[in-house]
Amino acid sequence: MPIPDTQKALVLPAKQADFVIHSISVPKPGPGQLLVKIHAVALNPVEWKIQKTGIIVHEFPAIIGMDIAGTVEKLGDGVEHFTLGDRVVSEGQFAIPHAGFQQYTITNADVTAKIPDSVTFEQASTIPVGLVTAALGLFTPTVPTGSDFGSAGLQAPWQDSGHGAYAGKPFLIFGGASSVGQYVIQLAKLSGFSPIITTASLHNADLLRSLGATHVLDRKLSLEQLRQEIAKISTGALDIIYDAVSLPDTQLAAYELLAPGGTLVLVLYPAIPTERLQQGKNVVKAFGQANLPEENRVVSAKLFSKLTVWLEEGMIKPNRVEVLPGGLEGILDGLDRLRNNRVSGVKLVAHPQETV
Ligand SMILES: NC(=O)c1ccc[n+]([C@@H]2O[C@H](COP(=O)([O-])OP(=O)(O)OC[C@H]3O[C@@H](n4cnc5c(N)ncnc54)[C@H](OP(=O)(O)O)[C@@H]3O)[C@@H](O)[C@H]2O)c1
Repeated sequence: MPIPDTQKALVLPAKQADFVIHSISVPKPGPGQLLVKIHAVALNPVEWKIQKTGIIVHEFPAIIGMDIAGTVEKLGDGVEHFTLGDRVVSEGQFAIPHAGFQQYTITNADVTAKIPDSVTFEQASTIPVGLVTAALGLFTPTVPTGSDFGSAGLQAPWQDSGHGAYAGKPFLIFGGASSVGQYVIQLAKLSGFSPIITTASLHNADLLRSLGATHVLDRKLSLEQLRQEIAKISTGALDIIYDAVSLPDTQLAAYELLAPGGTLVLVLYPAIPTERLQQGKNVVKAFGQANLPEENRVVSAKLFSKLTVWLEEGMIKPNRVEVLPGGLEGILDGLDRLRNNRVSGVKLVAHPQETV
């Protein structure tokens, strides 16, 4: 099929405006980039937050959406490891040519991976933001000075020295059933952590055990109940806790459970009351953007270079999928459901090519 000149996109015309479907031009890939026809795009909570609260995106009209799976339609200069028609997955950006809520996008080839035959476009689209946020929060060795994000700085499992490096150490994840949480569980397993303890609604327990959680605790437990349950499972120091929910109550519980000298990784800004802060406990916020800044891109390129094999071998399993009807228009209802906490243990995915 020839590449069309124009495509449909879900456009945010102004801050906190309603989304509209517009016809816009199909972008061209620059050096090191790919033009990708998007067959599946997954939804993320940040997208309703951008539209409803006006955060992060300040230039309009804008196109958002970051979880992209599709086919390579055109290669930019210097691209070596891809050919036309390859099935690929990548993380987009909130900039029009690189966004996901459209039919064609531009990805950076070094943070794009081929999708193995055993994985569908829909499954692949659940991976980028969740896996990148999990990985960067755990494994980025250095973050730029003065940035408001950070990392636990652990050895990464894509390096020989990092695979299984933390055997015998306990790992606690708040919100294991969230998209980010599911990938944290799987990376913790690749890193060798054990036991891997997570909080969730108990109807998600089998799913989370299938990903590598050894113990699933009811998310309704109080801090004291959690402390008691964890003590029954492990007496090891909780040196690393990943809070994939990061609401004020989960942050505080995670912080209280963290061992002195340990690191708590958050996905939202820290909200632990000042009077509860203790010397020697480290709190960092992950920033799940593979393309920037450069420090993230270097780490993400290593992650994406390993992703195809990990998927082939079942070492990373995508999130469960629920497909939204109606092409790009279907995203609106999906974002509403995310906003109203009506999504549990699945990733919502749209088919941009079905837009009428
Ligand atoms: N910093 C970054 O760069 C970055 C990147 C990605 C995401 N985020 C943020 O990270 C958060 C998670 O994103 P996501 O896409 O992973 O979310 P998601 O998949 O939509 O998360 C939904 C899940 O959260 C779980 N959950 C909610 N409250 C919980 C609680 N109190 N305890 C335990 N589990 C709880 C629910 O689990 P059950 O169904 O088991 O109840 C639900 O399945 C969002 O706030 C998002 O904006 C930040």
